[in-house]
Amino acid sequence: MTFWLYLIFIVLILVFYFIRRVYKYPKELDFIPTVSSFKYISILLSNGGQHEIQKLIRESDPNKIGLVKVFDFGWKIHITDIEYAKSFLSESDSKIRNATQNSNKYFHWKRNEVSNGDHWIRQRNIASTAFNRALRPDMVAECINEFIMLLNKWADIPIDVLSLMKRLTIQILGKLAFSYDMKALDSLEEQPYFLEIYNKILQHLLNHLFTVFPFLNSLPLKRNIEFSSLIKEFDNFIFKMIEQRKLEISKAKNENENTDLLAEILDSANYEEYNYTNKELRDNLVNYFVAGHDTSATSFAFSRDIQNKAREEVINVLGSTSNLPTSENLKDLKYLTAIIMESLRLYPPASILVYRKPTKSLNLLSKITIPKGINISVNFWQIHRNPDIWNDADKFIPERFINPTKETKSSWIPFSIGPRNCIGQNFSMMEQKVVIALTLLNFEILLPPNAQHLDEIPLTKNLLLHPKKIDIIFSKLK
Ligand code: HEM
Repeated sequence: MTFWLYLIFIVLILVFYFIRRVYKYPKELDFIPTVSSFKYISILLSNGGQHEIQKLIRESDPNKIGLVKVFDFGWKIHITDIEYAKSFLSESDSKIRNATQNSNKYFHWKRNEVSNGDHWIRQRNIASTAFNRALRPDMVAECINEFIMLLNKWADIPIDVLSLMKRLTIQILGKLAFSYDMKALDSLEEQPYFLEIYNKILQHLLNHLFTVFPFLNSLPLKRNIEFSSLIKEFDNFIFKMIEQRKLEISKAKNENENTDLLAEILDSANYEEYNYTNKELRDNLVNYFVAGHDTSATSFAFSRDIQNKAREEVINVLGSTSNLPTSENLKDLKYLTAIIMESLRLYPPASILVYRKPTKSLNLLSKITIPKGINISVNFWQIHRNPDIWNDADKFIPERFINPTKETKSSWIPFSIGPRNCIGQNFSMMEQKVVIALTLLNFEILLPPNAQHLDEIPLTKNLLLHPKKIDIIFSKLK
């Protein structure tokens, strides 16, 4: 009996010691307010969503220090103040490394958002030029015509907007990346091949058990065997597409036939010099799909009044027929641009930045020092809803972007800023404007009761913001 009591006592001490060790943070972080772990975990375990998590984060910093620390499989810092964010995001890559993620290792990708150093610089140089050269509103408009045809078939029937937008972006990215028809808009009943495999891979990657215990990935389990064969299948698809497109490009007589990302990358002066391999091409192209396909799910969630005003502007600029917009037209769509900016303010698709780790201790604004090795992120949601910067911060008011103040202009950062900002920013803004403008010319958008209140669309707790479920009705304009 005494033996067992001793044993239980020793085990309790070990557990206590272990929890204290894991839970302990460097004393330099003492001044940073702590988000209650109990409340945080309760929200994660309950059905709570992003609104609840972010409310807790805001309430944890009543003195507006501009940073909080959260225990989430280790201590993590969220920057919630724009000035600290600017200072952090402008740091060079040599001082801050993106934290590696499972997907890096197990999807065999070197994803740009999570790769570092020379590898990242090399990819970024090639991709920036290619992105700017491959931007074409007419290419997006081609896909929108297919989209409108699909909506015509589904007019007056509620459609899940998240899966609809996923299809549209996959279709557009297929054309942008390799002039390939992904067949994502042929029908709403059938899942396109690419999305089917890709979604299965994501399901595997998002398995919490394998994230918490990464060694499980190396065991000969049924799940791992299935996963490897999915990756093989996915690779075959992408490599085949690359080869097919390379062949078409080599045969093309006219330069305009070549405008897509793959063609621009192959054409890049640096391509030869860097001795770019097919494997790197695949990593990059897949990367654009991952970064770009899931990012505009709340685009259609705006009220009837706002819609009417935007439609009026679109008709003024484009005329009432579905003329394809030019880059000049898009610049004139000021109100529509303001709507998109306001959606991205309230619902930044990446609610927080992928965590980064300083490789040396980091001084921000000569005010605070963060020790090396701590995970840090910028919390875009908090910066976008700071009541000291934004009037009626939680309200959807597009007009605030018509004549923005200097302060609001520099506090709008859904695409991040600094050397690692979003490479698809211009493309994405162009894409959203064309999509919304042409949809408004053809349809009235009717929102379901759970999204009528645009200031608080129900969201999941994923870091990439997803509405819980919004079924939208597209009703043909008479
Ligand atoms: C509303 C749409 C989008 C938003 C809000 C968004 C936001 C972001 C953010 C916050 C980052 C991280 C930047 C950082 O680490 O500082 C990022 C990175 C990136 N995004 Fe986007 N993105 C969008 C659409 C797209 C699209 C359509 C593409 C491609 C077609 C794309 C490609 C990328 C790439 C390649 C990176 C990694 C850049 C690097 O590490 O050098 N994004 N994006």
